[in-house]
Amino acid sequence: MKKIILDVDTGIDDSLAIAYAVHSPELQLLGITTCFGNVSVEEATRNTLVVLEHLDSTVPVIPGAGKPFARNPIKKKAVHIHGEDGIGNTLTSEPNTPAQRDHAVNFMIQQVNKQPGEVTLIMVGPLTNLALALKEEPELVSRVERVVIMGGAVTVRGNVTPHAEANVYADPDAAEAVFRSGIPITLVGLDVTMKTLLPLEEVVKWREKGTKLADFLADMTEFYIGAYKSIYPSIKGCALHDPLAVAAVTDPSFVKTVPMRLSVELQATESLGHIEGIQLDGSDEEQSVDVCIEVDAERFLEHFLSRVIL
Ligand code: BDR
Ligand code: CA
Repeated sequence: MKKIILDVDTGIDDSLAIAYAVHSPELQLLGITTCFGNVSVEEATRNTLVVLEHLDSTVPVIPGAGKPFARNPIKKKAVHIHGEDGIGNTLTSEPNTPAQRDHAVNFMIQQVNKQPGEVTLIMVGPLTNLALALKEEPELVSRVERVVIMGGAVTVRGNVTPHAEANVYADPDAAEAVFRSGIPITLVGLDVTMKTLLPLEEVVKWREKGTKLADFLADMTEFYIGAYKSIYPSIKGCALHDPLAVAAVTDPSFVKTVPMRLSVELQATESLGHIEGIQLDGSDEEQSVDVCIEVDAERFLEHFLSRVIL
């Protein structure tokens, strides 16, 4: 079993990624850390606890960063995509379980130091918690097994602006610090996630399960598909951004990668968060990032659907 810390900004596709990860027997979830992004960090923590309650899971939730690494907040709450509450306006009550009293950065450092070489970080929100952890404990670079990041658009256009993907745009300085650190990274960006579409007819089938979890995830995912329909009228369904990062850990053969050196635009307002990728000959260069450029979308979708709701 792979030891995992999942870092989220829950979010609808984050919720789906949490369900997928909790239901993946290859993964041992040490904890779920939270960050601002789709919503505030308080809302991300609350939503994560609510999702875990629906999953009957007692995985600890540890709150993290509420603002970017090195500048004032840039990105607004993604109400049009994730709803007012971040989970497609499905929130009916506050969670019964509290979050841990620890901080995400501290939790990451402690867990990785306790079991060097064994912990994989799956980051599906802005990279703030990891950038802060690396600043405090640079040795993480050689002590994590790998970092799998949902973020960026290296060979394709952005989603939050034509130049940038939402997670990188929300904290470009954190992304740049992480990419430059030399930590082993697999980048699961829009290059591949926009090819992983979940169609409405599959979500409708979830309701046949007749469980609270199935209805909860179907309600929020239908909201998400509605948002996709208004933004991208030509595509059928919604992109499974964050679940694909989980899949890249449970079975790396879902994706194909190329080694690249990445740099993030930190100055120009118009192209803030844009990633420039230079392909490398081999992956032995210190700042080489394994960038996903192909995905077996059909096999991944089948795998995701077999696990998201049991
Ligand atoms: C990413 O941004 C967020 O809106 C999603 O949860 C995902 O992590 C996609 O660009
Ligand atoms: Ca996310």
